[in-house]
Amino acid sequence: MEGGRPLEGTVRIQGSKNASLPLIAACLLIPDKCVLEDCPDITDTGYMSRLITSAGGSVRRRGSLSGTGVDMEIDARHINESRMPAKYVGAMRSSVILMGALLGRLGEVYVDYPGGCVIGERPIDLHLYGLERLGAQIWIEGSHIHAYADELVGAEIQFPSVSVGATQNTILAAVTARGTTVIRNAAREPEITALCDFLNRAGADITVPDDFIQQGKLIIKGTPLSRLHGVTCSVIPDRIVAGTYLFAGLAAGGSIVLENTPIGHLAGVCDIITRMGGVLSGDEESGRLALLAPERGALKNVPYIETMAYPGFPTDLQSQLMVAACVAQGSLTIKETIFSSRFKISEELQRMGAKLALQSEDTAVITGGSALEGRNVIAKELRGGAALVIAGLAAEGITTVSDICYIKRGYQDIVGDFAQLGAKISYD
Ligand code: UD1
Repeated sequence: MEGGRPLEGTVRIQGSKNASLPLIAACLLIPDKCVLEDCPDITDTGYMSRLITSAGGSVRRRGSLSGTGVDMEIDARHINESRMPAKYVGAMRSSVILMGALLGRLGEVYVDYPGGCVIGERPIDLHLYGLERLGAQIWIEGSHIHAYADELVGAEIQFPSVSVGATQNTILAAVTARGTTVIRNAAREPEITALCDFLNRAGADITVPDDFIQQGKLIIKGTPLSRLHGVTCSVIPDRIVAGTYLFAGLAAGGSIVLENTPIGHLAGVCDIITRMGGVLSGDEESGRLALLAPERGALKNVPYIETMAYPGFPTDLQSQLMVAACVAQGSLTIKETIFSSRFKISEELQRMGAKLALQSEDTAVITGGSALEGRNVIAKELRGGAALVIAGLAAEGITTVSDICYIKRGYQDIVGDFAQLGAKISYD
């Protein structure tokens, strides 16, 4: 890409990666046909489809009506295989939530330890805790996990710390468990609510109380498997992709409009963007959100940000914010509280001229006001990779980002989207 030009134009936000993956897993539980509209056409949804197929299901894909993404028809009437192939499980962290779905469906599952981005240690103890509380027996041998349940039984589950994936896994297993499950300290991300909505429409009985965001409590009354039925549902738009494009707008400057934006899921992010000098105007109902970026000299840093579970500032936007902070005036301290190794782009940004220092493993200090220069850089993980693209758009000269396979795990067409926003960018 040739950076240093402001962005201008309109782009439609794709369906959410982190919402679609648990919905695909949920389809495995439902002994019927379901249609997921507006799924993002990314590597991870492809892997998840293959896992459905290897369990005995079938997946048909067609271009979605919105023009961004695919509609997936998942037929899980004949699921009969509890052994998940290591090839796809190892490639993707989210495969671990197939455990809850397959335990609910077949009472048994064999998986390998899941893969995913190298952003630090990613244990699965909370997943196993939730499933064991529901009566699953779990054996681990090397990297192989075998879980079995004669019958899943509802339970009171208090998570010692918040995990999105463990909450999803537990919900999936609890849907058909006998009796009632209460999950406390559940993750409150919009992707959790979207999973509960989908399952309820398919016949499950999950109560998401009005004060869910404050209390983090879910109540799931077990429903017999035979009462779950097919449903058609649209995947919610991707708040992280929307946030990525907003930080790109701030860093490169200009004026952009995002369509199909989940504005209500971005309150904390929009607040930071406004405090940095961006002018936002949006309409929650239509999902149209316009950003007018300030002139480079008027873009200013907020002093301190900590990543937090929802509704706090998302760890998945930390790298993108970091890039905008490099070119803004003033300094920003970022504390990463969710993952242990999420400053992997700092060296690449330094090579582009950014002034930043790692104060400790979890704290980075960015001294803004840098004029970034184009370089050849390498993506090492999904969100950091997207942030390097933003850096390239903000930098003078040519930037090449390689290993974009990481970015394709979560962004359907980042190059096409930025080209639509007027950037000089192409695939090599
Ligand atoms: C999900 C998102 C990911 C996002 C993350 C945090 C998907 C597909 N991925 O990942 O994009 O960055 O939420 O918002 O939705 N932990 C444990 N034990 C466990 C599970 C997690 O200690 O069994 C820890 C993790 O190491 C991490 C923290 O809990 O420090 C939060 O992780 P979690 O919410 O589980 O993230 P994921 O579900 O993997």
